[in-house]
Amino acid sequence: MPRRFNADLEWDALDPEDYCRKNYENIHENDAVFIVKLRDFFSSRLRGRTRLRGVDVGAGGNLYPALSMLPYCDELTLIDYSRPNIRWLLDHTTDYAPGRVDMTAWRQFWNVLVEDVSYARVPDPWRALRERSRVHRQSVFGLRPAQWDLGTMFFVAESISASEEEFRSAVSGFIDALKPGAPFVMAFMEKSEGWRVGERAFPAVSVCDSDVLDSMSRGAEVHELIRLGTGNPLRPGYSGMILVCGTKNPDHEGMGE
Ligand SMILES: C[S@@+](CC[C@H](N)C(=O)[O-])C[C@H]1O[C@@H](n2cnc3c(N)ncnc32)[C@H](O)[C@@H]1O
Repeated sequence: MPRRFNADLEWDALDPEDYCRKNYENIHENDAVFIVKLRDFFSSRLRGRTRLRGVDVGAGGNLYPALSMLPYCDELTLIDYSRPNIRWLLDHTTDYAPGRVDMTAWRQFWNVLVEDVSYARVPDPWRALRERSRVHRQSVFGLRPAQWDLGTMFFVAESISASEEEFRSAVSGFIDALKPGAPFVMAFMEKSEGWRVGERAFPAVSVCDSDVLDSMSRGAEVHELIRLGTGNPLRPGYSGMILVCGTKNPDHEGMGE
C-alpha cells in the first residue's frame, strides 16, 4: 500500500543539497517569472513598510521566497518539518558565515530582486538573513492563527501528501496563520505525479488552477494567478507551475474546516 498521508512520509530522508542542486542551481525559466512577480507584488503592497513579521512555510531547500520578504521584515520565520532541511536552513541563515556555504545560486535571485528600490536598500542580504531569520521545525497543520503580516508557501500544499483533504488543509493552515489583510504568495506544481530526491519518492496531489482557487476561496482574495507550462521541465510528471498572489480577507480570522 503506497504511503499517502503527510505523517507517513520520511521527511528526514530528504537531501536538501541534492534538492537544491536539481531545482535552483540555475534559475529555471518559470522561477525567473515567479521571482519578478513576487518582488513586484510585495513591493506594490508593502513599499516603505519595515519591521513586519514574515513567514515561509515548508521552506526546504529554497531561499528565494525568504529573500523576497527581506526588506519588509525585521523577523522572518522559516518553517519546515524535515530535520535535514532545518539544518540546511540554519546553515544558510542564522548560522551563515561567508565561505561556509555557497550562496551563488541565491545571488542570482537576489540580483533580480535588487532591480526594485526596496531591495536595493538592503546592503547585505546574507547578513540581513542571519540577523532576521528564525528557523522552526513545525508542521503547516499545526500553525497558530493570525501570527504573520506577510507570507509565502512554495510547492508545499500539493507536494507533501497524496490526500486532497491534506492539500486543502495545508492551504487553509497557511492562510489562517496570516493576519487579516496580509499579502501572500503561494506556488504549486500543476498535475504533479510526485517527486524524487535521490532514491526517495514523495507523492503529490494532482491539482490545476481551479483546485487552487477553490482551496482558498473562503479565506483570501486572489489578485493574480499565473500559470506557466513546462517549456523546459525540471523532471517528468507534471504539466506546469501555478503562482497565486493574494491577500487574506480582512474580516477573516480562520478558514477552519
Ligand atoms: C516540494 S518541497 C518545497 C520546498 C521549497 N519550499 C521550494 O520552494 O522548493 C516540500 C517541503 O515541504 C516540507 N514539509 C513536508 N511536510 C511538511 C509539513 N507538515 N509542514 C511543513 N513543511 C512540510 C518538506 O520538508 C519540503 O521542504
